[in-house]
Amino acid sequence: MLFLQGGATQQFSMIPITLLRNTGREAEYLQTGYWGKKAIVEAEKEGKVKTLWSGQADGYKRLPDDAELSFSEQAAYLHYASNETVEGLQFHRVLGPDSVPRVCDMSSDFLSRPVDADRFSIIYAHAQKNIGPAGVTVVLIKKSLLDSAQEQPNLPSFLDYRNHVATHSNYNTPPVFAIYVTLLVTRWIKDVVGGLENMENINHRKAELLYQAIDDSQGFYQGWSRKEDRSYMNATFNLTTPELEQRFLQEAAQAGFSGLDGHRSLGGVRASLYNGLTVPAVEQLLDFMSTFERKHR
Ligand SMILES: Cc1ncc(COP(=O)(O)O)c(C=O)c1O
Repeated sequence: MLFLQGGATQQFSMIPITLLRNTGREAEYLQTGYWGKKAIVEAEKEGKVKTLWSGQADGYKRLPDDAELSFSEQAAYLHYASNETVEGLQFHRVLGPDSVPRVCDMSSDFLSRPVDADRFSIIYAHAQKNIGPAGVTVVLIKKSLLDSAQEQPNLPSFLDYRNHVATHSNYNTPPVFAIYVTLLVTRWIKDVVGGLENMENINHRKAELLYQAIDDSQGFYQGWSRKEDRSYMNATFNLTTPELEQRFLQEAAQAGFSGLDGHRSLGGVRASLYNGLTVPAVEQLLDFMSTFERKHR
């Protein structure tokens, strides 16, 4: 387990540099949204990439069903994002064959629920959603994968996982404060929340309250993603017109709610429900939403 810098974005490159560059093999990627696509762009600089499935033509409103996915047992690795932060799409299952290294960007749902970590060869997640402040990125990597990775000549030392493993994440000055806060958050999850199962239950409760309100609004609020792929972390929705959306965001800001604007690439409204957000905070948002609906319907 490594504490690195460079964000999840640096992992988009470090992974294919380590597992794809100069191998002549092909890696399989899922293009499920804004971040999945960014990972593909970087991997393509390092070697052959097969986009196994893309939701781009549908505007990234849903994730693939199993029947749409045909994995190769020969792939160098399989990469996907467990939660697409921008669109609000989350996989509620583990993908791919166990015989192929499974690599997952869990930046926006790591430690929000239990995960069968053994089934993944690499899990990476920046801290700044659920586990701490920006500045540190957690990377869980199977040592056997590093042992078997092709030697990359002239690789900058900082981009070589082995150097970080050998020095216990102390290869250069580590972001000590961010790592320390991550320690406090993991203690809080364990000792105060009572573990990841409880954390997941709380996160589900928050999301279910919000999605219920969206679904009960008879089209006044419209959920972005297909119901079965909805994210427990990022609830994305629209109102009936862009003008009404702007009004909603303005009045919400006046009422003291921040960070509800959708990502700049998508617009709309996004309520992020990360570990740090409480159930009462969601209830306050629901009160605001129902008052706004009564006023503007
Ligand atoms: C799923 C996901 N992957 C990658 C990134 C990029 O992370 P960073 O800004 O730490 O490089 C983000 C950013 O929000 C994200 O949500």
